[in-house]
Amino acid sequence: MKQLFVRKPVGSLGAHEGGLHRVLDAFNLTTLGIGGIIGAGIFVLTGQAAAEYAGPAIVLSFVFSAGASALAGLCYAEFASMIPVAGSAYTYAYSALGELFAWIIGWDLVLEYLFGAASVAVGWSGYVTSFLKDWGIFIPPSLTAAAGTDLVKLPDLGWVSASQGLLSELTQKGVAVDSLPHVTALMNLPAMLIILVMSILLIVGIKKSANFNNVIVVLKVAVILLFIGFGMAYVKIENLTPFMPANTGEFGHFGWSGVVRGAGVVFFAYIGFDAVSTAALEAKNPQRDMPIGILGSLAICAVLYVLVAIVMTGMVSYTHLAVADPIAVAVDAAGPGLFWLRPLIKLGAIAGLSSVVLVLLMGQARIFFSMAQDGLLPQVLTKVHPKYKTPWVPSVMICGVAMALAGIFPIGILGEMVSIGTLLAFVIVSLGVLVLRKTDPDLPRSFKTPWMPWIPILGVATSLFEMVFLPLATWIRLIVWLALGMGIYFTYGVRHSRLRKSALK
Ligand code: ALA
Repeated sequence: MKQLFVRKPVGSLGAHEGGLHRVLDAFNLTTLGIGGIIGAGIFVLTGQAAAEYAGPAIVLSFVFSAGASALAGLCYAEFASMIPVAGSAYTYAYSALGELFAWIIGWDLVLEYLFGAASVAVGWSGYVTSFLKDWGIFIPPSLTAAAGTDLVKLPDLGWVSASQGLLSELTQKGVAVDSLPHVTALMNLPAMLIILVMSILLIVGIKKSANFNNVIVVLKVAVILLFIGFGMAYVKIENLTPFMPANTGEFGHFGWSGVVRGAGVVFFAYIGFDAVSTAALEAKNPQRDMPIGILGSLAICAVLYVLVAIVMTGMVSYTHLAVADPIAVAVDAAGPGLFWLRPLIKLGAIAGLSSVVLVLLMGQARIFFSMAQDGLLPQVLTKVHPKYKTPWVPSVMICGVAMALAGIFPIGILGEMVSIGTLLAFVIVSLGVLVLRKTDPDLPRSFKTPWMPWIPILGVATSLFEMVFLPLATWIRLIVWLALGMGIYFTYGVRHSRLRKSALK
């Protein structure tokens, strides 16, 4: 029984580096973080959260979620400066809480990274389909949505998902819904394609991927700065008043409860900063640069998000923002003066979302690589490509699974799994920092989480608070997922764990 909680001594970590290239500096790590953070959250979900939950007060939701992420980010930074090994929260849990917790978190991180890549790929598909449509190129609708989605063609909007709400709204308006063209979607082909392309890029090389990521980060930050800079002149005070629309009587719809629910939704926008920690084996000076990468990228994105939220809800009434491309809608509302910005926004989003997919896929491959090195997953996953020096076997496997998920499932289900999985990871990492300060107080820590023990305690509390607001179905899926993981651990991991084998000798 004790063997289940066997801990990895921190000093032993990094002993087997597995032949990866150390090429990333503080700048690369910060851009890696930004590359993983700015994506579907700001480009797609913000508008919806403003329109349905918070109004212009979505700005407060962004501040709240930034705070919750920063609490976890500080704990991640301490671990990353102390345990600079690929594997993210998984490796940290191995040293602080023991093997069973490490396995649980490693398995849980699949929800954040693999499901995350799939959900952002679905968002990417939406932007690409709409961009191509603007240029008169139409992808068959049956190939652009989750398998089995019922699509209906509306005269003004084209093909949209035929949700129950939409159909009853149309029927009430006297539209003969049955006479409209319908089609059942087979798969989301563009979403599958972007995963394939990004996986190939990852296999070909970490440095190439980092360069590609740097270019994209510059592009997407430039687009966002253009939006903030030029959009500011079109902000109208009447759009921002009332700043916090009164609660409708239903919990979570405007008022303070709407701000909290909005925070739960836009939390997705901050996910990705922890991906920096998965690149530790490829960092030149991880002890110094990992905290810079993690906290720097989080801070830059928080400032950008708050500004985007103010400008967006100031340019157009929040009631118009429940669309797939809210930033483009805000630009449209400004009139002809800003029409030039519209295609740039869409291109920025398309490029921006693709780098998020890249970073999340990369993180997942590194996590599986570490777990396999520890013997908890089959050894074949530790193979490094002889020429490209990348963990290509996990990348190929992940590519296949992520393509299937992105092709079959809608963004809603995927996104909620990502949120609950990431929040659970935050809880375990925060607990881990607390435990390790007690059990190994003298270990060298080049970055220390300040205000101990309050930061990790608050981190656990805020993450649990946000988890409680997620739907019951998501909780059930999480439990089923973790149970499946336990099954694998007790049939495979327990027998092959390197650490347990050496402890038993
Ligand atoms: N933070 C990432 C995004 O917004 C996951 O797409």
